[in-house]
Amino acid sequence: MMNPRYSTRAILRLYQSATVREVRSFNTRVAASPYATRRQQHFTRSILLVAGVGSLATTLQWLIDDKIFEEVHAEEPVTPAEIKFEPARKKPSSKEENRDIISSQHLQVKKSWENPGIYAWGSNSGRVVAPESSESFIKTPRRLSFFDGLLLRDLKLDRKFGAAITDKGDLMQWGTEFSPECKRPVVTLKGKNLESLAVSRDRIIALSKDGKTYSVPVSQSEQEEGPKPLEETWIPFWKSRSSISYRRLQPKGLGWGEKVSNIAGGLEHVLLLTSKGRLFSAASGSEDFPNKGQLGIPGLTWTTRPQGPYDMCHEISTLRGFNIKHISAGDYHSLAADSEGRVFSFGDNSHGQLGLDFNPDFAIIDVPSLIPIQNLYAGTDQVPRVTGIAAGGKNSYFTVDATKIAGREDDTASTRSLGKVTADTWSCGQGIWGSLGNGRWTHVQGIPTKIPALSGLFEYDERTKKSVPIRLSRISVGATHASAVMGNVTSVHASERGTENDINWGADILFFGNNEFYQLGTGKRNNVSHPTYIQPLDFQAERQAREREEHRFQLTPRKKVNINGRSVSMEQRVECGRGVTAVYSGV
Ligand SMILES: *[C@@H]1O[C@H](CO)[C@@H](O)[C@H](O)[C@H]1NC(C)=O
Ligand SMILES: *[C@@H]1O[C@H](CO)[C@@H](O)[C@H](O)[C@H]1NC(C)=O
Repeated sequence: MMNPRYSTRAILRLYQSATVREVRSFNTRVAASPYATRRQQHFTRSILLVAGVGSLATTLQWLIDDKIFEEVHAEEPVTPAEIKFEPARKKPSSKEENRDIISSQHLQVKKSWENPGIYAWGSNSGRVVAPESSESFIKTPRRLSFFDGLLLRDLKLDRKFGAAITDKGDLMQWGTEFSPECKRPVVTLKGKNLESLAVSRDRIIALSKDGKTYSVPVSQSEQEEGPKPLEETWIPFWKSRSSISYRRLQPKGLGWGEKVSNIAGGLEHVLLLTSKGRLFSAASGSEDFPNKGQLGIPGLTWTTRPQGPYDMCHEISTLRGFNIKHISAGDYHSLAADSEGRVFSFGDNSHGQLGLDFNPDFAIIDVPSLIPIQNLYAGTDQVPRVTGIAAGGKNSYFTVDATKIAGREDDTASTRSLGKVTADTWSCGQGIWGSLGNGRWTHVQGIPTKIPALSGLFEYDERTKKSVPIRLSRISVGATHASAVMGNVTSVHASERGTENDINWGADILFFGNNEFYQLGTGKRNNVSHPTYIQPLDFQAERQAREREEHRFQLTPRKKVNINGRSVSMEQRVECGRGVTAVYSGV
């Protein structure tokens, strides 16, 4: 299975010494837990089917708050419950108004199409979430009025600066770190057809559609005073100085047709993934050279680095031959997953964020190391495959598809469930603020721990008449908090021809972790260790449609819609940053 070109020895040594002992004790725990012993129970509820007893503990807490699901109880046989629609307060004058009244979900989808833009909340000490306001916190979602009606290709937020890519591919910046007097976003790097962003402590790394990578200083004065590269112009053999200072990051030795297709970054480093599945890394800050192994090049330091610019790209050659598909980076660590569902981690493991058991002698691991995800499923008759990774701050998250295989006792019940896929979510790293999402406040979590509220969920898909696992469609991780978007079946096809009860609904989203800057959007300041729902963004619209407020924020999935006479395919996306959160309309 292992690729011969991969230098496995060093890695395996590390990984064995670090994990075997702990894995054993972990397995005992798993065997004793309800996941291994209990059969799943199913509750059919309209479109909803919740399974996985482990997850119910937390899911239930929320469900109880919701009147519709009042009668659901984990242990009791289920009697068919009637679904109570809220009594309408006013008489609806149209089909559409009726939909708005019966459903907050429908109204939210509609508002997101009528009124694209950004909602933001959390710390405002850097004038990022509310540039015109001098408040230190924005406690609940608020419109960033400058972006009204605008669609964005990407958005990244730090506590002190914001960066966005417009739908034309230009870079926009704001916040006090950009310019202390900044009151509104400004276009900086123009005409490069940019597509995605990563931010370090003091630079913005931007990737263009054609695979060019630009490293732009966050600070406006550095952009004006720093060296400005020569650029090609439309006149042959004629070059001109760019209007702002930037540097190019250029991986060497790319093959024919190979280009940088994805970037991810931490405070001091950036990962560059190519379209052929090769991985490069580079220093991305201008203050400190990465020294925690996050570049994935064994032995590489400021003093041992090869000749050339400090931010030259290094190929992570130990991963050559693996077809890397996903990358993600925390402040000082890196994750890479390949097409076979294996995950490698490297960098700072001081809080267990590499998913390898914490060992003070190996707090820094500069060799890409395989995370033993299969150990998490030892004794379960399930084969795991990592489908997604996400990192931020000192945390890592993994989504896993676990497929049931033939077990030892070949009873009919287990044969019937053969091939059944369960979608689980695991976390590791620093848990002191609740960002592990497992209800605990652990300082150091090396071996990944399951997030019960985001694992083992199923729903009944009315269209296919089948029970399907609910996967996560996206996890966005800030420095100390995170959000998870559920891959529930969504529906955005209500039309003039449908009935008045035919509604649209989006995807559920949950928040957890540190909340000292109100970055979770709950309106309160307590840190949250169980993933939790927040209220709909446009609270006023909700109030107008109905009096009682028992609804949760849902994200509108991708759809082609008409915006100001232009037909565009758009979706809402959530971005968690350093102490701040935003929802934007993404193209
Ligand atoms: C999505 O799934 C979760 C977990 O089963 C459930 O609580 C929630 O109500 C579902 N949302 C929708 C919109 O169906
Ligand atoms: C949440 O975490 C922060 C950071 O450690 C801490 O200062 C704050 O007191 C915590 N909030 C609550 C309500 O416990």
